Amino acid sequence: MANYSSIQQGGNPSPYGSGDPYYAASTGYITPAPVKKSGGNNWLKFGLPVLIIVIVGGVVGGILGTRKHTSSSSTASADAAASSAASVKNQIGRFATATNSEWMMPVYPSTTNAAAFGAPSLIPSTNAAVAWPQDPFSPASPDILTTRPDRPRLIAPAYKWAALPQLIKSDPYLQGWNKTIFGNATNYMSLPPVVYFMDGDSGILDNAREIKMRIKAFGYVYRMTNDTQWVTRAWSELQNAVSSSFGPNDNTKWNPTHFLDTAELSAAFGIAYDWMYDAWSDDQKTTIRANVIQYGLNNGVSAYTDPTVFFGWWRTNTTGNWNCVCNGGLTLASLSILGDDTTGVATQLLGLTVDSAKQNCALAPSDDGTWSETAHYWYFGTTGFSEMTSALMTATGSDYGMLTANSNFHLTGMFHMYAYGTTSPFDWGDHGPNKFSTTANGLFLFAEQYKSPQFALWQREQQDAAEPWSMFWYDPSISGAFWNGAALDQFFDNQLDQWGSMRSSWTDGHALYLAIKAGKNQGHQTHNDLDVGDFVLDALGTRWAGELGSGDYRSPDYFSNDTQTSNRWLYYRKMTEGQNTILINRVNQNVLALPTVNHDTTGEQQGSSTVYTVPSDSTAFWTTDMTSAYFDATSVKRGARLLNARRQVLLQDEINSQGTVDWRMHTNATVDASGTTATLTRDGQTMTVSILNAPAGASFSTSMAQRYADDPTPPVPDQPNPNITVLIISLPAGQYTLEVLFNPQWPDMAASDFVTPPSVPLDSWSLTSHN
Ligand SMILES: *[C@@H]1O[C@H](CO)[C@@H](O)[C@H](O)[C@H]1NC(C)=O
Ligand SMILES: *[C@@H]1O[C@H](CO)[C@@H](O)[C@H](O)[C@H]1NC(C)=O
Ligand SMILES: *[C@@H]1O[C@H](CO)[C@@H](O)[C@H](O)[C@H]1NC(C)=O
Ligand SMILES: *[C@@H]1O[C@H](CO)[C@@H](O)[C@H](O)[C@H]1NC(C)=O
Ligand SMILES: *[C@@H]1O[C@H](CO)[C@@H](O)[C@H](O)[C@H]1NC(C)=O
Ligand SMILES: *[C@@H]1O[C@H](CO)[C@@H](O)[C@H](O)[C@H]1NC(C)=O
Ligand SMILES: *[C@@H]1O[C@H](CO)[C@@H](O)[C@H](O)[C@H]1NC(C)=O
Repeated sequence: MANYSSIQQGGNPSPYGSGDPYYAASTGYITPAPVKKSGGNNWLKFGLPVLIIVIVGGVVGGILGTRKHTSSSSTASADAAASSAASVKNQIGRFATATNSEWMMPVYPSTTNAAAFGAPSLIPSTNAAVAWPQDPFSPASPDILTTRPDRPRLIAPAYKWAALPQLIKSDPYLQGWNKTIFGNATNYMSLPPVVYFMDGDSGILDNAREIKMRIKAFGYVYRMTNDTQWVTRAWSELQNAVSSSFGPNDNTKWNPTHFLDTAELSAAFGIAYDWMYDAWSDDQKTTIRANVIQYGLNNGVSAYTDPTVFFGWWRTNTTGNWNCVCNGGLTLASLSILGDDTTGVATQLLGLTVDSAKQNCALAPSDDGTWSETAHYWYFGTTGFSEMTSALMTATGSDYGMLTANSNFHLTGMFHMYAYGTTSPFDWGDHGPNKFSTTANGLFLFAEQYKSPQFALWQREQQDAAEPWSMFWYDPSISGAFWNGAALDQFFDNQLDQWGSMRSSWTDGHALYLAIKAGKNQGHQTHNDLDVGDFVLDALGTRWAGELGSGDYRSPDYFSNDTQTSNRWLYYRKMTEGQNTILINRVNQNVLALPTVNHDTTGEQQGSSTVYTVPSDSTAFWTTDMTSAYFDATSVKRGARLLNARRQVLLQDEINSQGTVDWRMHTNATVDASGTTATLTRDGQTMTVSILNAPAGASFSTSMAQRYADDPTPPVPDQPNPNITVLIISLPAGQYTLEVLFNPQWPDMAASDFVTPPSVPLDSWSLTSHN
């Protein structure tokens, strides 16, 4: 057996050999009203306007009891404002959601509404009537051994369940989510228990997360109805997960060698034990405790303390989702049985998991908030972090320093918002497995704990908000609009993940979004690609330049390591060829790249209205010297900027290369390339791309998204990339300036409205250099 220190070498060692899935050896100009896209796509209107008489002050107060946040100025005008803000929210209801995209993006109406779209505000005194009541449990000196006297103690304490029905009535979001959870639970009720499936090196993680998702829904509906049929159904799900048909009949039933599985099942059992505590018989409680201790917690203790097992590698030196998910699951289960547990294992583990999470999980975001494992792994990491932190707070009265272990942790909420484009996220690197119980709803917790209401206002519009945690983390007294005061651009400068996010609007589904990155090619838990210079581009409701995403996690050596000779970099989706960047000499980028970046913005913030018109001189740019990413070039620089009031994009490369040069961009669009112009069409929209001042021999060509025939071959063939076209400019060795201009064909722009920018060297770019 490997020992801990041997498996922790290099930052990304896979203790499992190849293939481990998580640890890799681990408008403005125009704001159109929601438009139906051609081709029969539907727009679903969620949340029809709900008109509810607002119950003010005293009545609700009588029901909810004393409130933490009482109005200091309960004047008549404040009451009027309260009533106005709350009724406006109900009149608007929830925004529609696009059903024609993978991401079900919210659709914001073109409207101004000063009363509803104010600055983000957390529990304004005017909305106190719909705030959560004060927690009656507040231990004088918080301690793990001081547990909340009543149940539930995990995330959703009794006083919140008592207040929830009334809050649901006054808030369209809670109302919609409650209904969805009931529907989901009803659906799960009719299904047989989750069938055991060992998915190679991905283990039984899908099983574990699906069980957890169901248990949360059953527990929620039980507590909202007192109907024990949900408890009975939950019991059969729990029994199934410890039955002889579910894995080996020994202590490895929950697959501790892939500890995420063990942790997520432990969390599921913990939630079941705690949320349905009053409905279980003593025998059932004894059984659940015995199961979670044998298959979950005892393995957790081994992971931490037994030097002969290798499956606890994530407990140190792992600033990524593994540490968050593993410690989170062990913590939830331990807290749930604390006091009833006579073995001492729960107390022992709490003494280990909290410190480990503070030193690892909490440090997963860089000091600029970027989740260094990739934008998708943010979901897994922040879910684990949020569940653990919230459960500690509700069960013990203290977060034990989780929230402050990383003084920049709050920035990871902002990171997520800026990583979201108009159509979908800037989804570089690996995308992770099925999410099931994993969501972005930690944003609700961060909104409250980090006093950042825009996070909650953002997340409540998202499709994955409808699940039980939101019902307790979201505070309906919040008011305002997330876009009000949101800067259009944000730049993330930590060397690990230098990147920029630029857009023309936060609320126009057709807005322009450009995101581009440099950063290091190592240090991302082996979830990244060799992609310095990579970018995505959205406009007109379509992604024009996009990502290929994960390869097959079960491919040999996919996660072997991130050294230059790793076989990971032979897979097309991971190699430089598969990215939207420059390829030199048709070889991969240098894994030791240390690019530098520069950027600037005219700094506009969107205001209250969803109809936002950027000033005519509004712009932003981002440049990188990425020479260090290449082996056969003297200099490689790339820059991108927004032109013409953010309606056009210039992508400029300055290259002095001893090897061949390939400019590559992957697109789902249909491409018609001819000479120095390419016409891209998709979703009934058009984008023209042209090479300005084209160097001799520079013209567009296209290919399928696959490796060059003479590339070295990976251990197994690549996954195909159907319907993806690569737009290419191929040139021999030499010195070039490539200026590629992207002109989305906005419906309100005539040909003469497009600008042709001057030629300006990247080092001379400024906010006014292209006026
Ligand atoms: C964690 O990393 C530090 C610094 O690189 C190293 O000294 C330590 O040995 C590592 N710990 C383990 C358990 O590998
Ligand atoms: C929650 O949703 C269910 C199903 O639609 C509904 O029966 C119930 O009344 C809702 N709860 C509240 C408090 O509105
Ligand atoms: C929950 O219900 C919603 C609304 O019907 C649906 O869109 C969603 O797919 C369901 N989720 C699951 C996991 O079944
Ligand atoms: C469920 O039972 C609890 C405790 O007896 C009670 O407070 C609550 O009102 C009941 N809820 C429903 C929907 O009957
Ligand atoms: C193509 O579209 C799919 C589905 O929306 C998306 O996941 C993928 O990233 C897109 N690929 C590119 C290269 O844009
Ligand atoms: C990295 O992985 C490759 C296989 O992809 C292997 O041949 C090589 O030895 C590994 N290097 C290190 C330092 O582990
Ligand atoms: C590729 O295009 C074909 C034909 O339009 C379509 O049937 C297929 O679903 C597409 N495949 C993917 C993965 O989008």
